[in-house]
Amino acid sequence: MSKHQVLVASNRGPVSFSLRDDGSLVARRGGGGLVSGLSSVAGTGTDVLWICAALSDPDRAAARRAPEGRLDLDGHDTGSGAVQMLDIAAATFHRAYNGVANSTLWFVHHLLFDTPNSPHFGRAWQREWASYRSYNASFATALAAASDKVADPGGVRALVQDYHLTLAPRMLRDAHPTLRIAHFSHTPWAPPDYFRLLPAAVGREVLDGVLGADHAGFLCDRWARAFLDCCAEFLGADVDHSSRTVRYRGGTTQVAVHALGVDGTELRERANGADVAARMQALREVVGDHRLIVRVDRTELSKNIVRGLAAYRELLATHPQWRGNVTHLAFAYPSRHDLPEYREYTASVQRIAREIEDEYAADDWEPLILQDNDDYPRSLAAYRLADVLLVNPIRDGMNLVAKEGPVLSERGCALVLSREAGAAAELGQDVGQDALLVNPFDVSGTAEALHEALSMSQDERRARCARLAATATLLPPQKWFADQLDALG
Ligand code: G6P
Repeated sequence: MSKHQVLVASNRGPVSFSLRDDGSLVARRGGGGLVSGLSSVAGTGTDVLWICAALSDPDRAAARRAPEGRLDLDGHDTGSGAVQMLDIAAATFHRAYNGVANSTLWFVHHLLFDTPNSPHFGRAWQREWASYRSYNASFATALAAASDKVADPGGVRALVQDYHLTLAPRMLRDAHPTLRIAHFSHTPWAPPDYFRLLPAAVGREVLDGVLGADHAGFLCDRWARAFLDCCAEFLGADVDHSSRTVRYRGGTTQVAVHALGVDGTELRERANGADVAARMQALREVVGDHRLIVRVDRTELSKNIVRGLAAYRELLATHPQWRGNVTHLAFAYPSRHDLPEYREYTASVQRIAREIEDEYAADDWEPLILQDNDDYPRSLAAYRLADVLLVNPIRDGMNLVAKEGPVLSERGCALVLSREAGAAAELGQDVGQDALLVNPFDVSGTAEALHEALSMSQDERRARCARLAATATLLPPQKWFADQLDALG
């Protein structure tokens, strides 16, 4: 019998593997907002089993070698207790992850399509969709098997994460009618007029898939409402907006908002590490006494890095007093490079960075430092030093950078924040209050917000930053997780 009463399922798990030259496997902690949020909670409960996919050949090798894929039983430090890694065939994984999850559903929910050219739902895509189904079925099967191993399967709660796994809740429900199932979307949800880009049957399958869960969680009210609207419009489901319930196919799904914040104590402790101090010293040497605008992102289409750099260029053009007095530190880490759009986007980021460099760099002033290697302690060092934090996504489920920065900033940083980030619902209720909200497409408006942020008095910046930090730490991952478990009963 197993003791795992709480099952967590997500595409990316807490560890990933690479191969050393001698052929042996090295484990590394997984990255991304979802993983960092879940890692801090999953490790604390002995009754949690975290099921994730093998993402690469070394992951698949590690999964195959471990008994039933249980990495923790094969001597690996998962940092998160019991972890089962699913050995999904490489081609199936690739089509499900790259073809459907990242190129279709991610694009739909973040409104990213260049519609004259994409999406293109033809025969090749149908094959990708079939793989997405079978990838979801692998998770549903593993979840069902794990719940069968528990003495009282009625007490098992399964928490299924994100757009990779929209079909798994329904599949699991069909196998286990009484299991308590939750689904959580870490992304936005598309409004109906954009969701309808999906082939009709596919859109319905996605919605029906999520409705297999008893509880469907979102990061802010806007995404929850969009989901409810889609259920009403495409399924004809019985939707009650005031109680946020959806009745469909004899079941009722409770839709809910669970915002996610940061664990202030843990983050501050980590940011006090010697490695962070060393990075701060190195950054100070480069930046000198210039004012510092910081951004920290994956090089992700939705993060809007190119327009952010364009806004910085416009700031230098229209407010020449900042030339020679400000440096923009832009950290843009590689992401999803299997997709051509991401490779092209990375090139666009580098191109505009070079243009800014060519136009403004002087012997005694570097206007922009763009770094593309992922260095977590250096990101924490930049948060500590920032005068201004720029977070301008096109659309974002939450955005934890907007919450981490104010918590760590030492002099008090001003936050320039996209109104399209879920975090804006908490950090920028009133425009001009605490976060400076911007329309992410409005480059001139963003440049003005940067100017306003740099011009803000020290006292005001400090006061706003303290309030932002207080709000950011209200809902640490532990609470986010516990609230969802409670909601499942
Ligand atoms: C977002 C998604 C996560 C995902 C992360 C990193 O935060 O909500 O599910 O893990 O991006 O993306 P990746 O494709 O590298 O896992």
